[in-house]
Amino acid sequence: MSVYGEYEETLETVLAFIKGQIEDYTAEEYAKNGVKLHEHLICRVKSDESMREKLNAKGFEETSLNALRMVYDSIGIRIVCSFLDDVFANIRMIREASWCEVIEEKDYITHAKPNGYRSYHMIIACTAPYEDIDGNMPGKFYAEVQLRTIAMDSWAALEHKMKYKKSVKNQALIVSELKRCADELASCDLSMQTIRQLIEEN
Ligand code: GTP
Ligand code: MG
Repeated sequence: MSVYGEYEETLETVLAFIKGQIEDYTAEEYAKNGVKLHEHLICRVKSDESMREKLNAKGFEETSLNALRMVYDSIGIRIVCSFLDDVFANIRMIREASWCEVIEEKDYITHAKPNGYRSYHMIIACTAPYEDIDGNMPGKFYAEVQLRTIAMDSWAALEHKMKYKKSVKNQALIVSELKRCADELASCDLSMQTIRQLIEEN
C-alpha cells in the first residue's frame, strides 16, 4: 500500500487542480497582454519510494498523515519560463491567488546556492474542493512550486545527473565547470531580459 493511503488519488486530482489554476491565469494574461507567462509546466506527485525515504531522513514515521502534513512537497509543480520577468510575474500571480496561501518562499535566484543552483521555491497551502486528511472539505493540501528559467532548468537537470551518479571521475573539475556555467547562464538570462525590454520599447 502507498504511504499516501487513500489519498493517493486525491493528490493526483489536487495536482491537476493546481495545474489548471496556473493554466487559467496564464491564458488570461495571454489574452490581456499577449505574454506567455511560462514555457512549460512539469508536474508530479512524489513517488511512494521517495516520500518514504524523505520521511525516514527527517525522522518521521511512514504514515499518510506525516506524508501530507509534515512534508510539503508531495505535490510538486515546476514552472519553467523563457525570461526572468516571467518568473517574477508568476510569483506575483501565485502570491495574489485566491486558491492558495504562500507558506514559505526561498529565493535561490537572488541568492544562488554555492554550487550555482538558481530557482525560486514557494511552498503553498492550496484550498481545493476535495476532502483532506483532517476531514475538511474543501481541503487543504501543500505543494512545492519551483519557478525558473529554461537556462536554470537545463542546468539543474545536468547537475542532478551528476549528483545521483555513485562515483564521478573528474568530480572537482565538473563541479567548478558547472558553477562557471551557472554564472554564465545567469548573466545570459539578464541580457536576454534586457534585450526583450529593448525590443518591446520599439
Ligand atoms: P526539503 O524541503 O526537506 O526537501 O529540503 P529544503 O527545503 O532544504 O529543500 P530546497 O527547498 O532547498 O530544495 C527542494 C528541491 O529543490 C529539491 O528537491 C530539488 O528538486 C531542488 N534543488 C534544490 N537544490 C538543488 C541543487 O543544488 N541542484 C538541483 N539540481 N536541484 C536542487
Ligand atoms: Mg523544501
